Amino acid sequence: MPLVNMKDMLVHAYQNGYAVGGFDLVSLDFLEAIMAAAEARRSPVILSLAESHFDYYDFELAMAAAELAAKRATVPVAIHLDHGASLESAVTAINLGCNGVMVDASHEPFAGNVAMTQKIVNMAHACGVPVEGELGYVAGVEGEDAEKHPGEVVYTSVDEAKRYVEQTGVDVLAVSIGTVHGRMQGEPELDVERLQQINAALGIPLVIHGGTGLSDEQFRQLIANGVAKINYYTALADAAGTRMRENVAADDRCGYTGIVREIQEAMRVEIERCMLNWGSANQADAVLAVAEAWQPVHHVIIYNVNTTDEAQVANMMAEGERILSQIPGVRRVVTAKAVQQAAQYQFSWLIEFVHANVIDSYREHPDHIAFADSLFRPIAGDRISIDFRQN
Ligand code: 13P
Repeated sequence: MPLVNMKDMLVHAYQNGYAVGGFDLVSLDFLEAIMAAAEARRSPVILSLAESHFDYYDFELAMAAAELAAKRATVPVAIHLDHGASLESAVTAINLGCNGVMVDASHEPFAGNVAMTQKIVNMAHACGVPVEGELGYVAGVEGEDAEKHPGEVVYTSVDEAKRYVEQTGVDVLAVSIGTVHGRMQGEPELDVERLQQINAALGIPLVIHGGTGLSDEQFRQLIANGVAKINYYTALADAAGTRMRENVAADDRCGYTGIVREIQEAMRVEIERCMLNWGSANQADAVLAVAEAWQPVHHVIIYNVNTTDEAQVANMMAEGERILSQIPGVRRVVTAKAVQQAAQYQFSWLIEFVHANVIDSYREHPDHIAFADSLFRPIAGDRISIDFRQN
């Protein structure tokens, strides 16, 4: 149950004056450290998987681990695609289990950013998934993540932010007001007045990228002016890196497990510090009380066929698995044949949707309609179709 709707989680944070960490993970060590910190501090948490990091790990494998970690948690968790680069990557992320996606089109001119964001919002909302847009540009300065975000910082304009949110329907907005991805150089100067104006104009949860290096007082100012999600990565990577260098210095012949010893602990300490400082500690139960539980829907069909052509039936099922599993919001498609020859119905479909919204968007999707009209309905006889949702 503790996978929850990310929008509900962030609206709670926004209305109650605290921020939830969107902690980027690049390995199981990060995942375990983030979850241990969230449990220890009874904090809602966002597991963030950045497309810009996909050359470090296998996204599909990491999603399976993140989802299991979320399901067995006792604190509310959301799984978010950070810096999604295209409509296709947003669909892939949602179908793998992300229940929040970020559109990273902030490098585009305004109209291009709006157009791409609109497309992703339409698709994601039809799957029940909230969307984070970005306006302005948070560049990288120093550290391993800096090169992933080349170029100069572009501050978010209040006027454009208002039009962007109205035209795209994004649920939360990442703003650029002086933070940078990676390590800071010198004292960061934040344009808090601009943030205040954006917050007054929009009234939706705001997001800060480039959380590493800000002072406690700066975080307090950000949160007081509408920031409900803070993206955080470099400080965790650096805490792990420092511990690894210490491990090697203590024993320069140590192998893998010796090098990574206690890096989870080092990251957990930093994450807990953030949760306390950002006010998300001890908010878990309040979020669980108000946030929608993120439960899949099982679209189940049992049916008979009115043909004896086994090859035609096998082709229909294989094509169904291939085509239907690509539709946004479909987690998996399983076709099966009855074990008992005397069963009243001989065939079944189990199609798992990420959210109840997909019941309608799947039915109306052109690929579903084309498959049903050309391959399924011509040979499907009597059938029963029911959508089931876990309580
Ligand atoms: P830092 O690496 O500066 O903490 O920023 C993380 C981030 O914004 C990921 O989207």
